[in-house]
Amino acid sequence: MSAIILAGKPVAEAIKAEVSTEVAGLIDIHGIKPTLAVVRVGEDPASAVYVGSKVRTAAEIGIGSEHLHFAADTAEAEIVDVVATLNARDDIDGILVQLPLPAHINERRILETIDPLKDVDGFHPVNAGRLLQGHESLVPCTPAGVIEVLRRSGIEIAGKRAVVVGRSNIVGKPMSVLLLQNDATVTICHSRTRDLAAITREADILVAAIGRAGFVRGEHIREGAVVVDVGINSVTDTGAVRELFPDDEQERRLAAINDRGATLAGDVNARDAMAKAAAYTPVPGGIGLLTVAMLMKNTVTAARMRRLASI
Ligand code: GUN
Repeated sequence: MSAIILAGKPVAEAIKAEVSTEVAGLIDIHGIKPTLAVVRVGEDPASAVYVGSKVRTAAEIGIGSEHLHFAADTAEAEIVDVVATLNARDDIDGILVQLPLPAHINERRILETIDPLKDVDGFHPVNAGRLLQGHESLVPCTPAGVIEVLRRSGIEIAGKRAVVVGRSNIVGKPMSVLLLQNDATVTICHSRTRDLAAITREADILVAAIGRAGFVRGEHIREGAVVVDVGINSVTDTGAVRELFPDDEQERRLAAINDRGATLAGDVNARDAMAKAAAYTPVPGGIGLLTVAMLMKNTVTAARMRRLASI
């Protein structure tokens, strides 16, 4: 078997086009321009790239944005004040504090300062609780993107066995809840799970969100499963390329390491997934593209909820 590739791009483009139309309507009919504030602290290079992509995409689809960047040694109290000021501004609909924050800043304190109505990451405990109880909420972007890819690719979730590997607050936990809400039978696995492969092999839908390149291998995958790879890992070792990627990708991957020093790999061994799965989301080009699209969608939802009391 050779898996069907579930490309993220067409799904992300479709969502962005829908959001763009919605934004135009909000501006024309209600005079509301949804606006996102992105707070970044320090000089983490990956964060700089992600934030750049968020701000650029917002501009492309008519969403306003403000990028607030602070030095790595900025005091926690100052960031709390910045968030409080954004909470109070009527023209700001969404607030995103890019993670990770420098070690001296208490991440939880900052995330809990964000007004839940403006929490476009869906990381505030109020939104996490609402999601768990099945109420309307702002849902974390990456797991919401996974559901969109499955739905828009015609993959039924109801009644299926779904296994999520990883239990982070950002992906694993909300992913599990969303699959449950879509009527899957859900199992969450993690670093302490015994006989992981026996459990993941039960999965009709297997979601990998552990943060380790190629952790999910052939032995973990049931023949014909749908495999969703949420990982984004940097691989610099040419030996790993031979192990992780299908033959027809090797040359391109080795060239990437040669030219840029690294290639991106998911949490799933792509070679094994292509051989065993019915469908697979590639890295790059899969779920990663959905995160920003869903952030835009959340920003518009936040604008509607707060300013029009509708979604
Ligand atoms: N860092 C990595 N992913 C994310 C995300 O989805 N949101 C925020 N705020 N920071 C991140």
